[in-house]
Amino acid sequence: MKYSLANIKKSRFYLNKNECVAIPTETVYGLAANAYSEKATIKIYRLKKRSKKNPLIVHYYDLNMLKNDCEINNNFIKLYKNFCPGPITFVLKLKKGSKISKNVTNNKRTLAVRFPKHPYTRKLLKIINYPLAAPSANISKGLSPISKEDVKDEFNKKIKFILDGGRSKVGIESTIVNLTNKPEILRLGGIEIKKIKKVLKKNIKFKRINKNVVVPGQLKIHYSPGIPIRLNVNKPKLNEAFMLINKRKKSGKNYYYLSKRSNLKEAAKNLYKTLRMIKKKNFKTIAVEKIPNKGFGQAINDRLMRASKY
Ligand code: TXA
Ligand code: MG
Repeated sequence: MKYSLANIKKSRFYLNKNECVAIPTETVYGLAANAYSEKATIKIYRLKKRSKKNPLIVHYYDLNMLKNDCEINNNFIKLYKNFCPGPITFVLKLKKGSKISKNVTNNKRTLAVRFPKHPYTRKLLKIINYPLAAPSANISKGLSPISKEDVKDEFNKKIKFILDGGRSKVGIESTIVNLTNKPEILRLGGIEIKKIKKVLKKNIKFKRINKNVVVPGQLKIHYSPGIPIRLNVNKPKLNEAFMLINKRKKSGKNYYYLSKRSNLKEAAKNLYKTLRMIKKKNFKTIAVEKIPNKGFGQAINDRLMRASKY
């Protein structure tokens, strides 16, 4: 993808007018709007058909502007220094006097924040004077987009502009860490838990269900391609799409490799892309080979489990 300052400025033009623009990030594409504007952020919910109870992640260029909106703590500083910009989201306490729209927080006293790594979006964040609220750029509960074409697939002509940044490198969403109290993982994603543990030098758990916040990434049905998925399958049925991570001697037209060398990071990167491709080929069901529940495999399994509840 060729760098285009003109396209970045075009994104700014629409954002300044309180419109939504799709932006590339290293994890997945986001549907962005001015996080300080009620008028702009309400449009995100309408376009995504998202429940207003689900708060949004806000994207910043760096610490400077964040300090107006959040209380910062030591755990945050450690993780920020190690992983940012990068695929990690922090839940922090909202600062009194912050200009963040009530639509973003669902009136709660916490805020999820992230510092995306994609250079085009970083440039965009640098030349605007507000942070960007941006959930994944898909209709609620569906597959996250990892390219401009995927975003078009989701919204057709309903959004003003898509900033094309090529294919997302990580391919699954950011890891979410709650730092408002004792650190805990709310969503598995682009940074493995073991890396976070190493930096914080303490055990940190993945808390699947959080009673205090509604996290759609934690809903039972989510990340769904809209067709049934069967997990831990060794042999697919006839006419069933088959997703694999281990290379087999025999292959079929219905075989879709997430990785041919059992590499879980590569498999995570290819997950949404492959599910979307299978959906387009009109298969009626998807079978998935057993995926080891470690590292990125955990994040893949978590998403497949929710997708399989369809
Ligand atoms: O990689 C990502 O994080 C992508 C890119 C675009 O940045 N964004 C993304 O946003 O995945 P979304 O909205 O699809 O998922 C964000 C999750 C939701 O499950 C939301 O409920 C949760 O973060 N969330 C937002 N604010 C929260 C808060 N204050 N406390 C707990 N969870 C929160
Ligand atoms: Mg999402």
